[in-house]
Amino acid sequence: DWTMGAYREEAIRKIREQVGDQKVICGLSGGVDSSVAAVLIHEAIGDQLTCVFVDHGLLRLGEAEQVVTMFRDHYNMPLIHADESDLFLGALEGVSDPEVKRKTIGRLFIEVFEKHAKSVGGATFLAQGTLYPDVIESVSFSGGPSVTIKSHHNVGGLPEKMGMKLVEPLRELFKDEVRALGRELGLPDAFIGRHPFPGPGLAIRCPGEITREKLDILRRADAVYIDQIRKHGLYDEIWQAFAAILPMRTVGVMGDGRTYDYALALRAVTSVDGMTADYYPFTHDFLGETATRIINEVQGVNRVFYDCTSKPPGTIELE
Ligand code: XMP
Repeated sequence: DWTMGAYREEAIRKIREQVGDQKVICGLSGGVDSSVAAVLIHEAIGDQLTCVFVDHGLLRLGEAEQVVTMFRDHYNMPLIHADESDLFLGALEGVSDPEVKRKTIGRLFIEVFEKHAKSVGGATFLAQGTLYPDVIESVSFSGGPSVTIKSHHNVGGLPEKMGMKLVEPLRELFKDEVRALGRELGLPDAFIGRHPFPGPGLAIRCPGEITREKLDILRRADAVYIDQIRKHGLYDEIWQAFAAILPMRTVGVMGDGRTYDYALALRAVTSVDGMTADYYPFTHDFLGETATRIINEVQGVNRVFYDCTSKPPGTIELE
């Protein structure tokens, strides 16, 4: 793709010009955006870049291993795997308000990045995979009055005291363009095609209080759901699919016993840029089979709902 080839060259030139001989740290989330940003910046400035992969305890099943393997072993990039799950989950204990969750997570990300900016010998730049829709969604919505729907931790608002400058090479791009750039940079197709995953991770898929027990159930259920979607060949038709664990237990019956377990919501949407979305019309057979598999395979779940809300009026994530 010649346009992306040109974009790549231009972006590399701008990164070199902005950064000079300074050190940069890049927050890697395992998502496509931060991965493309990291590979691009690495191409521009090599080992002046260190990636910081923060494991906040809110990642999906197997995610940390996948990211570390890909960047450290496959790309040979300097990578810090920061296991900070106790820090994040501790601070989130008892928190159920969605904005408080987001702001808590955002604040801790900054703390962890500050720590590692020092640990790499004084990085002065923080790189992020912020996209154009992230920039506009945090200021206005659907051309309406200026209102914050959700605080994206990776947009603006980098506290002055951090004293770091931002490198955001994807700030003008939409998701499909980021994917094209990722392909141009040689990232594996399977990785580029991954559904988006939000910085606050599973925290915003666990409305109400977050507990390790709920996160564990959610991780396993989400893995079964995504496995079903892949087995039915639907993964690439869907913009984003995930399970959320609802803040309630309901009564059920299994074998000859009563159960009193968590309920899950399954979400799947199609979208072009995440700004608007339609719920995905799975067949009833698919939904029934998936509910059965989740309840049989994941202890602690006895009820599964499918979310048929589009965006607007819903948002893609539950919080
Ligand atoms: P919503 O829920 O606002 O999500 O309809 C739109 C898209 O953005 C993702 N999302 C985030 N991504 N940091 C991110 O990096 C965030 O704080 C965040 N919140 C939502 C969401 O997964 C969807 O793709």
